[in-house]
Amino acid sequence: MTRPVSRYESLASWYDQVMTDPDDRSSLATIAYALVARLLGPGDGLVLDVGTGTGLSASTLRRAGYRPVGLDLAIDQLRIAAGRLPVAQADAARLPLADDTVAAAYSTFVASDLDDFPGTVAEVFRVLRPGGRYVAVCLHPCFDGNYAQRQPDGTIVQHPGYRETGYAGPGHFSSSIRGKVGAWHRPLAAQLNIYLAVGFRLAEVAEDGTDPLPNQLALLLTKPAELEPAS
Ligand SMILES: C[S@@+](CC[C@H](N)C(=O)[O-])C[C@H]1O[C@@H](n2cnc3c(N)ncnc32)[C@H](O)[C@@H]1O
Repeated sequence: MTRPVSRYESLASWYDQVMTDPDDRSSLATIAYALVARLLGPGDGLVLDVGTGTGLSASTLRRAGYRPVGLDLAIDQLRIAAGRLPVAQADAARLPLADDTVAAAYSTFVASDLDDFPGTVAEVFRVLRPGGRYVAVCLHPCFDGNYAQRQPDGTIVQHPGYRETGYAGPGHFSSSIRGKVGAWHRPLAAQLNIYLAVGFRLAEVAEDGTDPLPNQLALLLTKPAELEPAS
């Protein structure tokens, strides 16, 4: 089993500042956390934040009634997150949780960072209770990322390569975060098929962002209450 690379060590203070700066990524973050709360709907129990980063979403989920608990690979991110919610270090592709135990989970902006995205999706599915819900918010693979270059006037230049799944290193990007950690790209169909292949049902899809062309894609996925017998 390959070990995931923890690319956010030593970046956490800077990352937290960028994600809360109104002149930088704070609107991106605020929109994503609102999408999670809207798609999950009001709740009252534990919700698992897979790839919590510095735990910035915790207050939004608490306002929606949940008790968020965060997992992340990067100790440096968790150092800050621990002031915002209960946390534990874990690889998302090897969750330290029993099968069928979690009612609700979410992730924001981790699809670009996960070295084992299919493994993570399978793990989230495994730990969810039948009937459990998972909201995944990611940078929109069609309008933001390795092959879609947003211009200052809001237009997007599409480069060849969209159909390929792969990781591009920091040198590929001019944006501040991706310019430090790089990013994975998966075409939309590939992403959706990974969720469907493990048994998730797609219950709702949303696209959002401050620009006319959406830079965020949000999925509400459910684990069927009654698992169908294998044929
Ligand atoms: C772009 S940050 C998003 C953090 C947070 N969800 C937010 O909204 O600010 C991506 C996070 O995914 C974490 N991550 C990357 N690979 C991981 C893995 N295999 N298991 C758990 N977390 C991982 C990184 O350490 C980082 O904190």
